[in-house]
Amino acid sequence: MKLEKSTKVYIAGCGGMLGRAVYAYFSERCNVKATDIDLNIEWLEYADVRDYKQMEESIIAFQPELIINLAALTDLEFCEKNAENSWLTNALGAENIALISKKLDVPMVYISTAGIVDGEQDLYNDFDAPNPLGIYAKSKYHGEVFIKSYLDKFFVFRAGWMMGGGPNKDKKFINLIYQQIKFGQKELFIVDDKLGTPTYTLSFAEGIFKVVETELYGVYNQVCEGDCSRYEVAVELVDLLGLKDELKITKVSSDYFKTEYFAPRPTSEKLVNMKLNARGINFMPHWKEALKDYAQVFIADLNKS
Ligand SMILES: NC(=O)c1ccc[n+]([C@@H]2O[C@H](COP(=O)([O-])OP(=O)(O)OC[C@H]3O[C@@H](n4cnc5c(N)ncnc54)[C@H](OP(=O)(O)O)[C@@H]3O)[C@@H](O)[C@H]2O)c1
Repeated sequence: MKLEKSTKVYIAGCGGMLGRAVYAYFSERCNVKATDIDLNIEWLEYADVRDYKQMEESIIAFQPELIINLAALTDLEFCEKNAENSWLTNALGAENIALISKKLDVPMVYISTAGIVDGEQDLYNDFDAPNPLGIYAKSKYHGEVFIKSYLDKFFVFRAGWMMGGGPNKDKKFINLIYQQIKFGQKELFIVDDKLGTPTYTLSFAEGIFKVVETELYGVYNQVCEGDCSRYEVAVELVDLLGLKDELKITKVSSDYFKTEYFAPRPTSEKLVNMKLNARGINFMPHWKEALKDYAQVFIADLNKS
């Protein structure tokens, strides 16, 4: 499908770190309606993916030609402690939107996660069998399975360690490290036994747009090129911030954080974009290039304070 200025695109759960990037990319090129339950910016309207009737009304009122579901509970520990809400948001929410996509006969985009693997192998392509470990991964994988079996016109994009949104929106690793630095910590303790593939929200949003236009429906790994440990990401970030001589980065094992981060996580959740590459539609940069670009917002923030 050609995505044009007049094309109506409905985006659910658009108030988060990926939502910022997807909204920016799509709203410049299409006619977007964006919703969330957290109305943290003026262009968001309220709609809760757990509530079928409310979603149906919100979507049908707009008559979209494409529906993107970004809504999820993404904090793994919160999901372990709030299993019912996680199932309702991540799994039933995805089902609700799939049912509405089917009713309107429009394509649906769903964002899955590298976290659905069990980490028993080193690197996972698009065809390797998932085996999710915790509530977050299980509920996200249910959404994937339902959409695959229920819809003909769908895109499932599996993302890795998300980077994006900057100091105010980023809920994940980069901002976690940055906040420690900003508040004066001189030694960082970083795990080196968790491996993955960073995923830059700006490139990911561009990837969604361009892959949707191809109409080559299906499941895609879509992560930055290259892979790394959490430790390597921290070293790179500190270097980019120009702080390598001022900060000590100490390698620790995941056991060091086992009380705080108790949700099960795969040792390796490294993905490779085999299908995107084979089809010549891989728009993801190397993670170091992406981090270099992303670091600029943190450098600006540091200079401000
Ligand atoms: N972050 C990652 O590392 C990562 C990795 C792989 C895949 N993904 C997937 O990428 C997608 C976008 O996630 P993100 O990284 O942008 O996370 P995010 O910043 O937490 O954004 C998700 C948004 O969905 C909202 N939401 C929660 N429950 C909702 C509901 N019932 N109805 C409507 N909206 C609801 C959240 O609101 P609240 O803030 O109020 O909860 C938040 O604004 C998700 O599908 C996620 O599973 C994320």
